[in-house]
Amino acid sequence: MIETKIAVVGAGTMGAGIAQMAAEAGHFVTLIDTTQEAADRGIASIQTFLDRGVERNKMTADQRDDVLARLETSTDVVGGVAGAEMVVEAVFESLSLKHEVFATLDQCCPPNVILASNTSTLPITDIASAVEHPERVIGTHYFSPVPLMRLVEVVRGEHTSDEVAQRTMTLCEGFGKSPILIKDVPGFIVNRFLCLLYAEAANMIESGVATAQDIDTAMKLGCNWPMGVTEIIDLAGVDVTLLALEAMHEMTGEERYKPSPLLKRMVADDHLGRKSGQGFYDHR
Ligand SMILES: NC(=O)c1ccc[n+]([C@@H]2O[C@H](COP(=O)([O-])OP(=O)(O)OC[C@H]3O[C@@H](n4cnc5c(N)ncnc54)[C@H](O)[C@@H]3O)[C@@H](O)[C@H]2O)c1
Repeated sequence: MIETKIAVVGAGTMGAGIAQMAAEAGHFVTLIDTTQEAADRGIASIQTFLDRGVERNKMTADQRDDVLARLETSTDVVGGVAGAEMVVEAVFESLSLKHEVFATLDQCCPPNVILASNTSTLPITDIASAVEHPERVIGTHYFSPVPLMRLVEVVRGEHTSDEVAQRTMTLCEGFGKSPILIKDVPGFIVNRFLCLLYAEAANMIESGVATAQDIDTAMKLGCNWPMGVTEIIDLAGVDVTLLALEAMHEMTGEERYKPSPLLKRMVADDHLGRKSGQGFYDHR
């Protein structure tokens, strides 16, 4: 059994998934958020996911309990990351917030600790500009739901060292993932494509060309996609999608990434997708 520790900062959709994945791979994990309530919500979502696995005979109750026993929560970043081999940041998609978090991590973690960001769109080199040791900052871009999706885009910033890139690839393989090592370009690979689809789907709905259901049916039945575009947005979060599009639009200057006003209205109305119960679909 591996006995290294992984710390995850941010216990939302992605942070909870990353924590679960690492605990399932045998690591001890500390899941950190700003409030105990938020951290507990992360653990509750992991518990629900694992309970479903037990009900469906994908794991035994003992295996579930072992995974849960390797997870702890904290609201104190400095104490929570102590002893970790890697810290994965999964807070909101805001460069200034990520700078704050990385500056703290850089100060409290010894230089051999890998500092990884789960950012969807922000350049790793920009995130690393907040720290004194940018060679240990790297992107590990996971996909939702993390315990099930096999890809991780491992993103090398301008200053990421070869050693940190190699250790990150090895850790991700140990998590049961298939990592690809890629360049620090806007949107990396997957979101560079996906953001175009998100933007166009929202434009089509806003202009009355097609409904969300029609778009999803078209892509599922016409292209054999397992999920439709707006179903993916509801899963990822409409707010997360909007932030990703705004970041892509700003970074590339390309109109094709400009978010539709529809997405802004949905966020203002708290129609965030599955997490708020209402998005393009009613999830209640
Ligand atoms: N949702 C997706 O499908 C997806 C996929 C890949 C990457 N990402 C990226 O992952 C990151 C997190 O996304 P998410 O969907 O999990 O967001 P989320 O809104 O579900 O969760 C973010 C969590 O971070 C916490 N947080 C905020 N500031 C914090 C701080 N200073 N310290 C500790 N915790 C803090 C919040 O309380 C919240 O629980 C973002 O960078 C996003 O772009 C999201």
